[in-house]
Amino acid sequence: MTVIGQSVQRVDAASKVKGEAQYPGDMNLENQVYMKILFAGRPHAIIHRIDTSQAEQVDGVIAVFTAKDVPVNEYGLIMPDQPVLCGPGSSKPYAERVRFVGDQVALIVAESEEIAARARDLIKVEYEDLPVIADPFEALKESAPRLHPERDSNLFCHYRIRKGDVETAFAQADVIIEGEYHTPVQEHAYLQPEAGIGMIDEQGRVTVYVAGQWAHEDQEQIAHALGLPLEQVRVVYPAIGGAFGGREDMSVQIVLALAAWRLHQRGINRPVKIVWSREESIIGHHKRHPYHIKTRWGATKEGKIIAAEVELVTDGGAYAYTSTKVMGNATLMCTGPYEIPNVKVDSYAVYTNNIPNGAFRGFGGPQGAFAAELQMNKLAEKLQIDPVELRLRNLLKEGSLLSVGTPLPRGVSISEVVEACALKAGWVKDEEGWKAPKPSPADPSRPYLRRGMGFACAFKNVGFSFGAPEQSWATVELRGGSEIEQAVVYHAGADVGQGAHTVFAQIAADALNLPIEKIRLVVSDTAFTQTSGSASASRMTFMAGNAIRGAAAAALEKWKNEDRPATATYQYRPPRTTPYDPETGKSEPNFAYGYVAEAVELEVDEETGQIAVCNVICADDVGHAVNPQMVQGQIEGAVVQAAGYAILENFIQQNAVPLTRTLSTYLIPTILDIPDHVESLILEYPDPIGPYGARGMGEMPYLPFAPAVASALHNATGVWFDEFPLIPERVLRGLGKLDG
Ligand code: MOS
Repeated sequence: MTVIGQSVQRVDAASKVKGEAQYPGDMNLENQVYMKILFAGRPHAIIHRIDTSQAEQVDGVIAVFTAKDVPVNEYGLIMPDQPVLCGPGSSKPYAERVRFVGDQVALIVAESEEIAARARDLIKVEYEDLPVIADPFEALKESAPRLHPERDSNLFCHYRIRKGDVETAFAQADVIIEGEYHTPVQEHAYLQPEAGIGMIDEQGRVTVYVAGQWAHEDQEQIAHALGLPLEQVRVVYPAIGGAFGGREDMSVQIVLALAAWRLHQRGINRPVKIVWSREESIIGHHKRHPYHIKTRWGATKEGKIIAAEVELVTDGGAYAYTSTKVMGNATLMCTGPYEIPNVKVDSYAVYTNNIPNGAFRGFGGPQGAFAAELQMNKLAEKLQIDPVELRLRNLLKEGSLLSVGTPLPRGVSISEVVEACALKAGWVKDEEGWKAPKPSPADPSRPYLRRGMGFACAFKNVGFSFGAPEQSWATVELRGGSEIEQAVVYHAGADVGQGAHTVFAQIAADALNLPIEKIRLVVSDTAFTQTSGSASASRMTFMAGNAIRGAAAAALEKWKNEDRPATATYQYRPPRTTPYDPETGKSEPNFAYGYVAEAVELEVDEETGQIAVCNVICADDVGHAVNPQMVQGQIEGAVVQAAGYAILENFIQQNAVPLTRTLSTYLIPTILDIPDHVESLILEYPDPIGPYGARGMGEMPYLPFAPAVASALHNATGVWFDEFPLIPERVLRGLGKLDG
């Protein structure tokens, strides 16, 4: 019996339930020393001098490292624009500048954390403060100081889409909807703050135990900064306490490697451990990008959208991180999963002195979807067409062209997904089309409560987009004599908590026709296999699944030929994608997608401005649910995380200084805040090239949530909210119940 489609127990369940799983912060090695980082603590300055002499004299301090100790003082996933350590003495131009509060200035290694912290506070840094840019529109002005003086401007990426002729189409439109939307910063707030251990392993490799999303990418960034060949660097992931995109960029990876390696050069062979506090995590890693989206859509009175024009401006913060990739998605998704013949999009990513913004579940999709779906629901209101009916008249179908001029890959199911969600949420279809359910009756004893229902849908890419190299490697080793006694699966893929390793085991068991107990995993260690690509872009099941199936088939062949053990390595490469054409945006952006629709019913208290989400129907085409319970977990997790984004989480930075520094003032959903009821509607329209037809699904349930909430709030109150989080203050202001 196949284990595909079974909710088998997670391979890490017992160790996590018993508290035995080792997260990086739990690891302790013999003779280890402790590291603290001196952060800049100011958003923009030149460092003229760093005096570490007093710190070095503290009893128990082993070493202090600064920029001069970093061989190649730069890193960055898409461009190496960030110094590893800011300050004088390295050959990286302008590395003596700090550009956000979380820039790292010095590393202090000591016998204990307390000593390291005390010594850190004795380091004297001579700063010359520079003018601060906290707003992307200010940053775009000609007169704005440049954050990266070697560049012509603070604008570091501009995409264009030009399809058809928007001006002519707007002239022919019966209705035009204009909107200006603002989406907020979001903190990942993963359970486990950044931590790790750096050491020299028994083979002399600089080794880092850390929680990340792509071990081989970490390895590459470390090797680059240390000026070492790749094979002299090893990255191992123990248990990972959540990631959501927040561990794609480097936090402690390079500095742990640097410290261990420099100590080793001084004849000190002791592992170096670091654990960030929550406060350090909040300033030290990137956030979700805020977006400013101005848009105009035109439609005929029959409800056919004929034109969309969009301008997106996003704050990249101090360094590029994955901004260009995130914006690639937002640019594609800001016109929704609709076939629109005339489209013009311009998107801009801009440097400021804010904390860098980067990957976060949905990767630009949620920001794009917020604008697209509110436009759609406003259009429905203006045309007096039901929002589900209006969507069905415009949704992308097999063969219809995206804004970028090419069709979606085969297996387009968005209409089916929208219909399934609508039916479940109480919509009915008659000869005139789809009709929304009547709102639930108000509670006469609580007249200050208003109820509303909102609908939204989205599409989400699976895998790396726009020409980024995409691959995943796996090795399968079959051990035994006449029968296979054990199958060892080697794969670098990260289990960030989503259950990837369980899926690897399920797929290997199925592909080898073995009971799952016979599968042994050797995972998340660069020493044992080639790259997996990241645990991101909803890609791991799809990519690793295909790689493991390929390796399993090849290993079985060798088994038949009497190889003992029978070992095979396989690289899966999906169909190629292409980047935006610089003038028209024409491209083949992605090789696979998932499709999602959500209906949200909420209650708002018009006296306090508080929103309670009562019901969520979330329909997701996952292609094939390899482990249905984990799929449901992903849907519910995404909905709860998106509820925080939409309603609660308010990250405040003032003049590039974060005022939100702790989780006590950054309100993420607790059990009392989550929706009363989430119905996960798991649909399985197979992807033609996904393993067993599976599509990636970790991100898509997140996308339609915020616009569905804003639409439900409009349904309840008659007011459109084009900016969130929908905290009580914003709701009351929108309802005209607060002055000023
Ligand atoms: Mo993700 S935001 O693709 O790590």
